Amino acid sequence: MRETWTFHTAGELLFGRRASRQLGEVLRRIGCKRALLVTDAVLEKAGLVEHVSAPVREGGIDIHVFSEGEPEPSFRAAEACLSKARQAEPDAVIGLGGGSNMDLAKITATVLTHGGMARDYVGEDRVPGPILPLVCLPTTAGTGSEVSAAAVLTDSDNQVKVGVLSNYLRPRVAIVDPLLTVSCPRKITADSGIDALTHAIEAYTAVDNEQFPLSPDERSTYQGRHPLADCLAEKAISLIGTHLVRAVHQPDDLAAREGMALGATLAGMAFSNVGVAVVHALEYPVGGATHCSHGAGNGLLLPFVMRFNLPARRQEFSRIARLLGEEVAGLDEQSAAERAITAVEKLRSAIGIPQRLRDLGVKESQLSSLAEKAFAIKRILRVNPRPVTVNDLEGILRAAF
Ligand SMILES: NC(=O)c1ccc[n+]([C@@H]2O[C@H](COP(=O)([O-])OP(=O)(O)OC[C@H]3O[C@@H](n4cnc5c(N)ncnc54)[C@H](O)[C@@H]3O)[C@@H](O)[C@H]2O)c1
Ligand SMILES: [Fe+2]
Repeated sequence: MRETWTFHTAGELLFGRRASRQLGEVLRRIGCKRALLVTDAVLEKAGLVEHVSAPVREGGIDIHVFSEGEPEPSFRAAEACLSKARQAEPDAVIGLGGGSNMDLAKITATVLTHGGMARDYVGEDRVPGPILPLVCLPTTAGTGSEVSAAAVLTDSDNQVKVGVLSNYLRPRVAIVDPLLTVSCPRKITADSGIDALTHAIEAYTAVDNEQFPLSPDERSTYQGRHPLADCLAEKAISLIGTHLVRAVHQPDDLAAREGMALGATLAGMAFSNVGVAVVHALEYPVGGATHCSHGAGNGLLLPFVMRFNLPARRQEFSRIARLLGEEVAGLDEQSAAERAITAVEKLRSAIGIPQRLRDLGVKESQLSSLAEKAFAIKRILRVNPRPVTVNDLEGILRAAF
């Protein structure tokens, strides 16, 4: 039971076309003389690394680049980044990329500050204090990692994704420049866009803050639904509903890119305080086993989890239907709520997200062990509006198979 709620986000948010030009000024303001920029080879090839770092160097700030980031980064990638960071001895870390590179930047700044290894920080609240200043520039729209308290890594040995969760991981500054997302290929735009929608929907339909199951004296970054996050999630759902299909099919449509960039960041602000729930809990083992992208896994699972949650959240679902542009006037509450699921299914098909777990290569014989792995992720399952058993999780996976 909670009696109060809180709201945390990045220390500062700069939003808008060409906002990334202000990186040098931002670094100077936080007293940075030598930065480590964490990114990957794709973004280097696309010219984004040069675009962002050249003006900063001209301004006299030293930038060391780690460009071996990878999608859904492993502990091995974290070790490689860390060893580069130890050589560079930066006084700030910059994450440039999708959630993968931003999360790598977060874990690197954490281990650089507090020592040990990335694995030591997996779980909730295991980071003992502030970390080196982080500046994050998302190039997808997106995970919301630029404002969130999470870093997600792939535990390849156990075929599951694991999270480090701490408010100390929130970036000092988030620079959201929609122009950085224009080079995203269709699949990346689609996958990362439906991840953002999943964040907004899971936050908007989460367990209420007053009912959030916490033991006495326990503090949690995730704290259930509250009114400020509701505002953010509603706006995010409507922005994503308006702009996602256009951003996928007309990649140069800057208004669509801008709408998605804002929607994804607002969704990040919402979920990173409220929590994500069963969709994410199921995606962690599904993604670990199939190597599908986080967004594709979430997008596939989202309508099936919505169907499970509908009885607990009819009113919110009918509101989601309206926010996604469905006509619900004159419908009873159940039918209106179901329209939210139809809307998500339509969106999912329009942007080419896989529809069935078997399309990702999942075998029927794996379903029960996937459900068991998801059932172990209690910190996010307790955010769900309906309590879930391991059988419920297996049932959802069977429906999605
Ligand atoms: N920290 C959080 O709060 C949080 C939240 C949700 C998801 N995640 C994690 O984030 C990761 C997924 O991040 P993502 O969906 O942003 O994708 P990503 O970072 O994995 O990137 C996918 C691919 O797209 C490429 N790419 C990114 N931006 C591009 C651009 N502008 N132009 C061309 N190519 C580009 C990357 O180089 C990469 O190859 C997963 O590991 C997921 O678990 C983290
Ligand atoms: Fe996500």
